[in-house]
Order: sequence, then structure tokens, then C-alpha cells
Amino acid sequence: MNCILKDAMVYVNKEFTKKDVFIVDGTVTFEHSPLFFDFQVIPFDGKFIFPGFTDVHVHLREPGFSYKENIETGTKAAAHGGYTAVCSMPNLKPAPDSAENLKVQLDAIKKSAVIDVHPFGTITKGSLGEELSDMDSMAPYVAGFTDDGKGVQRDEMMLEAMKKAKALGKIISAHCEDNTLLRGGYIHDGEYAKEHGHKGICSESEWGQIKRDLELVRETGCAYHVCHISTKESVELIRQAKKEGLDVTCETGPHYLVFSDADLQEDGRFKMNPPIRSEEDRLALIDGIKDGTIDMIATDHAPHSAEEKSKGLKDSLMGVVGIETAFPVLYTNLVKTNIISLEKLIELLHDNPCSRFGIGVELEEGKSANLTVFDLDSSYKIDSNCFLSMGKSTPFEGAQVFGECLMTISNGQIAWQKS
Ligand code: DOR
Repeated sequence: MNCILKDAMVYVNKEFTKKDVFIVDGTVTFEHSPLFFDFQVIPFDGKFIFPGFTDVHVHLREPGFSYKENIETGTKAAAHGGYTAVCSMPNLKPAPDSAENLKVQLDAIKKSAVIDVHPFGTITKGSLGEELSDMDSMAPYVAGFTDDGKGVQRDEMMLEAMKKAKALGKIISAHCEDNTLLRGGYIHDGEYAKEHGHKGICSESEWGQIKRDLELVRETGCAYHVCHISTKESVELIRQAKKEGLDVTCETGPHYLVFSDADLQEDGRFKMNPPIRSEEDRLALIDGIKDGTIDMIATDHAPHSAEEKSKGLKDSLMGVVGIETAFPVLYTNLVKTNIISLEKLIELLHDNPCSRFGIGVELEEGKSANLTVFDLDSSYKIDSNCFLSMGKSTPFEGAQVFGECLMTISNGQIAWQKS
């Protein structure tokens, strides 16, 4: 692909500069050449060009659950959201718990992905928590190991997994949830649950397991990442672990930063795991973003069918989509409100996830073009009918936001373009 993206504000070397981006045979250059005389010129004056975002936590559902999403729809949705790299979660069928089972997903990625997909392997066989997966055989192909969707319940199992991951030089990405504390809960154990007669999930079910894992990180020196943190205690535990020098990072999701349980409605689109917590938790997460305790924002894009999400807070499945709304939601709620800068948001959506997981591509001279173009002045109401994802359930339905993705280029090819 050859073209000139003209006059945009471009994020290069961690700052925005007005310049032209030349894409020559799919590669980025900032230097004009007379040889580019017949290139298509796309005027982007007043628009912003970012390196393609990287989401380290998405559910693409293929193989096994393609009635919810597949690799083609999920990656097209990601490109529509400005992403050029995602890490896919392993709650699939077959679960990627050996090189052989992982290959089913790798073949599907090769066939249908429009952006880069880096799968996670499971920590335990079938994510059942009983036996370690074949981490050795998967290591060369995976972003790391996780049993996302479930916590690893047994301490000895997590200890074994961390020792193995350390030996392989791989990250453990932990969904932290202590099943003994769940007691049938399905939303946050707070005011809303009390007032509306719902069963709550206590905060300790998350932070208790983070605390356990940090002890194991101390013992093993394993590189450890915590998925979707939602509680103030989790923020504080990770803050202290970082001060101590442990090799620890974490992510949270847009919905935890924008909503508290006071915003819940009796609708499955407000149900996910972990749940939206209290206002105090939300504010602690914002502090964690500001002081660097929280390294990145991941969407936990978790599509389900309309039927599966139609059963209210109690009986709908856990999980909401988010990959097509993350940037506009975060830009509107965190940047336009002056809580963080636009540069900081790009760090959270690109720089930090890329450096931690060794994936993604910088927007640099000579690199393959992986970038996204946004109109930050465009304001619209989020409408799930416009999603490319098969999942439509989002707590942000109808929200008024700023920031529209005009184009995403992945590995030098257009993966999304507004028509
Ligand atoms: O809400 C969630 N949905 N949380 C998870 O941990 C798993 C995910 C899913 O796979 O649907």
C-alpha cells in the first residue's frame, strides 16, 4: 500500500507533532521523496494519528463459541476501535492447553484475522485448575499464560505455574478470584445489591487472591500481570508490590473507570466479572492510573449472544463488549475532563501493553504501518447497531462521546476505513 496521510497531529517519540505520514509499500516514512508523486493523498488536517492500540485482554470466541464472535468479526471490530494488536483469551474449545490445541486457534487466526492476534495459553489443562497445561510446547507462540474467566484456586498449582513461567521467560496473567468467597454473588456486594435484593461479590474475592499471588511472585520472581483489577485494595496491593520491586503490572477496564454500582441498571449489559464496584473503588482506580500503579487499560471485550445477555443482572452471562468504544469512552471521560493527558492515554492503550508483552509495533520511520486515525471533534451517541462485533451488550449504549475512528492500518493494509 502506498499513500500520504497529510497534515495530521502524529504521536511520535511520545509527543504530538503536525506532519505527513508516507506509507510506502506498507512501511512508514516521514521523509518526502519525489518518487511519491502519484501516491494517493488523504487529507487529515485537524485529525490525530496514533500508533495502533494494543489490547491485552479480548475474547474472540473462536474456536468453540463462534455464535458469539469469531476471529474475523472480533478483529474487524478491534480495527474499528483503533486496535492493531490484541491478545486473545483461552476460554475456548479446544482450550489452548497444548501446542496441538493451540494450533487450531493459530490456524483460524492465520485465515481470518485482519490485525495481529497474540493468543494466551492456559495455565492449567482446560483451565480446570487441576493439572498444569503443556506450557513448554506453547511458549514460543503465546503472549503469556492465563486461566482467564477463573482464578487458579490451589496455591501449589499457581506456585508450579509461576516457576514454569519464570523458567520459560513468560508472563502469568492472572484472573484473580477466590471461589470460596463468591457465595452465589453476581454483582458488587455494595449499596445497589443491598437495595435491590441481589447477591453480591465481595472485593476480597479479587484482592485476596492478588495478595496470595504476590507472595508467590516474591518466592519465584515470576513476571506477573493482574487482569481487570476493580477494587481499591487491589490498587494498593499492586502499588506496594511495585515499590518493593516485584515484577508486577496490571490492567483495568474502561467500565471500572467510568461507572460505579450507583450507575447499575436492571439489565445484563451492566453485568461482567469482576463487577462494577463502588465509587470509592472507581476513584482509587483513577488514582492508580494517574500514579502509574495501573499500567494499561484493556477492554475484556467479552461478546455473548443477545439471548445470553437478555436475562437481567441475575441470570445474564458475565461479560460486555468494549473494543469499539474504549478510546472514545476514555478520551471523553478521562482526557476531555483533564484527568489525564492524551499522551498518557496513548501510553495506557499502546506503549505500556506493547512493552510489557513484547508485542505491537511503534509508529516509527522504517516500521510496518500499524496506526489509527481519529477525529477527536466528532461527537456521537454510542449505538451497538453500528458495531462490527457480533456482541452488542455494552453499559455504554447511548452514551454521548467524542472521538471517531476514521481509519486503521494494520501491517500496511487498511483494516478499517470509514466510508
Ligand atoms: O465478564 C467476564 N466475561 N469476565 C471474565 O472473566 C470472562 C468473560 C467471558 O469470557 O465472557
